[in-house]
Amino acid sequence: MEPLTPDRSAVLAWFEPRRLAYPWRRTREPYRVLVSEVMLQQTQAARVEGAYRRFLRRFPSLRALAAAPRREVLVAWDGLGYNRRAVALAEAARRIVREHGGRVPREPAALRTLPGVGPYTAAAVASIAFGVPVAAVDTNVRRVVSRALGGAEDLGSARVRELAQAWLDPTDPGGWNQALMDLGRELCRPTPRCEACPLRPVCRAVLSGPAHAPHHPRRAEPFEGSMRQVRGAVVRALRVRPSATVPELAAVVGEPEERVREAVRRLAAEGILEHRGARVRLAS
Ligand code: ADE
Repeated sequence: MEPLTPDRSAVLAWFEPRRLAYPWRRTREPYRVLVSEVMLQQTQAARVEGAYRRFLRRFPSLRALAAAPRREVLVAWDGLGYNRRAVALAEAARRIVREHGGRVPREPAALRTLPGVGPYTAAAVASIAFGVPVAAVDTNVRRVVSRALGGAEDLGSARVRELAQAWLDPTDPGGWNQALMDLGRELCRPTPRCEACPLRPVCRAVLSGPAHAPHHPRRAEPFEGSMRQVRGAVVRALRVRPSATVPELAAVVGEPEERVREAVRRLAAEGILEHRGARVRLAS
């Protein structure tokens, strides 16, 4: 039996002024949608805008990206952080050229086999670029669905996916997915802003009282969080110099050598840096 889900019209009316709010919402070109969704994995939409435009000016087509040296891809990724996403995206472009004739695949299962593309990104690209009716459930959407449809219950992720799938707008799955993303980011936050929410009249969490609204705050581990900062600083330092030793990098970055060495070790293991004797540089 289909689960009972609320009417979509209030959410769609709320979403209307946001429908074209970002450059990646003014295209359905699959390569551009893929680039935007990989950028949006760990970076806020407002920060992605400029980087998205610059990146596409530099690599206007999937084939241009597939042919690019890694170093240039990393330079064009400037400002986004989590550089291994750039390496994965370029590798995905090469795989699409080799295995899919240069066309981004439309099926979520095929998209998921690409490096750097998990279930959420696969669903986002399939629904936005190709109109495939598949719910894209990230942390924000999970919060919206859990609260609106589950209320005080703690729904497991399989149930959240099932409800999200039943709630999906079959006439515009990409638009609906992005409406829920916006709702989760702007209003249905860990501390929710229910007064402005179009789902307020039907939200099960509101109906069962504010004390029951489930929270899903997630914090990065302090060590991993700061390691990410050191890694970002190391890559930035190597963008503007051909190579450096670990002690030089430690001085530039202002971190202890052992932490910089650990960051370098991880970046080299991911293929972002390479060693040249005692020096490291961005991988070519
Ligand atoms: N976060 C992930 N995908 C997004 C999209 N298409 N628009 C806005 N925020 C997003």
